[in-house]
Amino acid sequence: MSGSTIIPWVVGNWKMNPLQANAQQLIQDLKQYFTQEQISAQSCHIGVAPVSIALLNVRAQLCDTPIKTVAQDVSRIAGLGAYTGEVSAELLKDSGIQFVLVGHSERREIFADTAEIVKQKVQHALSAGLTVIYCVGESLEQRESGQAEQVVLQQICDIATVVQAEQWQKIVIAYEPIWAIGTGKTASPEDAQTMHAKIREGLSQITDQGKNIAILYGGSVKPENAVELAACPDINGALVGGASLNAESFYQIAQAFAKTQ
Ligand code: 13P
Repeated sequence: MSGSTIIPWVVGNWKMNPLQANAQQLIQDLKQYFTQEQISAQSCHIGVAPVSIALLNVRAQLCDTPIKTVAQDVSRIAGLGAYTGEVSAELLKDSGIQFVLVGHSERREIFADTAEIVKQKVQHALSAGLTVIYCVGESLEQRESGQAEQVVLQQICDIATVVQAEQWQKIVIAYEPIWAIGTGKTASPEDAQTMHAKIREGLSQITDQGKNIAILYGGSVKPENAVELAACPDINGALVGGASLNAESFYQIAQAFAKTQ
């Protein structure tokens, strides 16, 4: 028991995976794990983030489970209009999607989502009433040059001007050191806890909600390291990539966090 009053979150980011047939199997397996061996909503929030074309299908299929459906991204443009290829926060909300990842390092690095773009996405998502899982994290180069903390705290500050006081309760932070994503290298629980504590300190300077905001860790989370990570007082869940494509692994990770409650 960590004694924390924050309900943890375990969210599977499926990224640009899987093909239909495998997705169907994964959903069936998830339904089996999460309905037979229930994890109560009081012990852990569970979510999966499929590709955008699968959002509605996944949501419909998981509606009788505790698993929430999360969008992987949102447009920086609000509302409706002539913006080919974009999906706005309003459209997500209108389709019953209530959660969205924003600022994932793959969006920042590969798709050139700048701090300004990320800020607009957060603002529009919150205005539409969505809960935002806001991703932050430093590169290996930044860590090795001693800039990790500064980079991550700056990313937190980047959104401070667009999150209104009462909207902080709709923010979840995901700390994902870029060097740990998909590499099999996890930050040690000590290093992750140190950064999470800094993030909490930074959040507490911005909002009096700081002590209540869930801060998830992401980067090669697996059943083998989840228990140790979950034991850290400021690690309130996980954003899971690769291991979320296997229902058993994902369930085991969720269990590790649910047991801290
Ligand atoms: P991996 O768990 O595959 O390292 O991915 C982490 C991640 O980027 C989740 O958003």
